[in-house]
Amino acid sequence: MKKINIEINLEVFESISELPSSIQELMNKAHKAREKAYAPYSQYKVGAAIRLESGEIISGNNQENAAYPSGMCAERVAVFHTGANYPNATIESMALTARSLNNKTTAAVPPCGACRQVLAEYEVKQKTPITIYFMGEKGKIVKANSIKDLLPLIFDNTYL
Ligand code: THU
Repeated sequence: MKKINIEINLEVFESISELPSSIQELMNKAHKAREKAYAPYSQYKVGAAIRLESGEIISGNNQENAAYPSGMCAERVAVFHTGANYPNATIESMALTARSLNNKTTAAVPPCGACRQVLAEYEVKQKTPITIYFMGEKGKIVKANSIKDLLPLIFDNTYL
């Protein structure tokens, strides 16, 4: 038996003003998208904004459903929209923000496991890392330089 140690690297910013201006713009777009989320069941709004290599920004938010599992996370709404409409585009970065309508979300909210897997697919497909910035309603912003830092043991097409 041998042990494997996996190291991940994250950066933490104290506030939006510490971010590079292009990422501030991206995070502000994510906040705007978040407020348009359709989240009547969880009362939890999530916004995602994606910057393409071309500079174009695509945003998405969570879309819930009375049949709960039929809903979709903000990240996947944004990523699937990108995949459907810009099939050859390279995703440079993604900004995420979440707000509960019931309490103040100050913790940096990372993407759920299913969204990490979906992001991993696109990172593998485009062969360049996607930088991910995530936060709550207020407070610190966490930056991951690649989805590999959020999902170290990626299941990808090499296993098929
Ligand atoms: N949600 C997202 O949009 N992204 C995540 O990464 C985690 C969860 C949504 C799904 C659901 O509409 C609400 O947040 C509560 O789970």
